[in-house]
Amino acid sequence: MTDDAPCEPAPNVVAANDETIAAAARLLTAGELVAFPTETVYGLGGDGTNDRAVARIFEAKGRPRFNPLIVHFADADAARAQVAFDERADLLAARFWPGALTLVLPRRPGCTVSLLASAGLDSLAVRAPRHPVAQALLRACGQPIAAPSANASGKISPTTAAHVATSLGGKVAMILDGGRCTLGIESTVLDLTGEVPTLLRPGGVTMEQLADAIGRPTTPAASDSQAPKSPGLLASHYAPDLPLRLDVRDVQPGEGLLAFGARPITGAAAVENLSLSGDLTEAAANLFAMLRALDRPELAGIAVMPIPEHGLGQAINDRLRRAAAR
Ligand code: TXA
Ligand code: MG
Repeated sequence: MTDDAPCEPAPNVVAANDETIAAAARLLTAGELVAFPTETVYGLGGDGTNDRAVARIFEAKGRPRFNPLIVHFADADAARAQVAFDERADLLAARFWPGALTLVLPRRPGCTVSLLASAGLDSLAVRAPRHPVAQALLRACGQPIAAPSANASGKISPTTAAHVATSLGGKVAMILDGGRCTLGIESTVLDLTGEVPTLLRPGGVTMEQLADAIGRPTTPAASDSQAPKSPGLLASHYAPDLPLRLDVRDVQPGEGLLAFGARPITGAAAVENLSLSGDLTEAAANLFAMLRALDRPELAGIAVMPIPEHGLGQAINDRLRRAAAR
């Protein structure tokens, strides 16, 4: 409790100990969200292998679009099961993990982490946090934990459990209080999917430390004059190869249909239904996997039924519009 806090602490804030960490792990396994401390900032965690849980992270943050999330592992070996490490990644993990460095690496073919955590991309951002509570939670849960900073969209990253409670209190099943984050700034994000390491976000591990380990990384602005300047837009966006038509009332010959709701349009060459019951969280959870399933050369295009523009529907429509506008 902070000294001058005027109101009661939110009921779902609990001091981190063996018992509460075990309870948090059970909640994660059941698909619930848990906020937990890392040495950088508090994370808003969900089971990274559960599409619905990852969709609920976006819902809780109120993000108007799907940015890829950082997925947390207890150690490098656990991360290696999901993404392909190269020599640079091995070296950096040996030197800085557990710690404030996030590596963007190619997803392995059998990667079980939700495609929504990658925002549909072939890459995944992975990190092994040092904080003992994060470590204990990862080991108790036994699954990768997807976790952006535990703040509502557009607000600053939280470094105490009280910040999380203010920002997201009612939207998470539990907030594990592990005290104030020691670093207080987010992890450094380094993209290793290309030949030249690219610094996507400066953070807890410095440019000098990286340069000392693998040579000086480039920055997106330096490597690509076309790169958008806003940090939120640095990651490239997934888009299918086939053309997309949005808000359709009918399908054209040979088109695949991305349906939504109980009454899918008939006559499509292939159909994927984002949510038969019209549930936007379920639709978000299915979005990227279903787009990929329909992105087949034998189809003429992908027709997308109207999706309501509220809640997660905004982020779904944002991504579909970007893909359609290419
Ligand atoms: O310190 C931290 O990194 C905290 C704690 C909780 O670990 N997490 C955090 O996550 O700040 P988030 O989601 O707020 O920031 C993730 C950053 C974004 O800038 C995102 O664009 C980038 O990582 N990112 C994630 N996956 C990516 C990918 N596949 N390709 C490119 N950039 C990616
Ligand atoms: Mg953030």
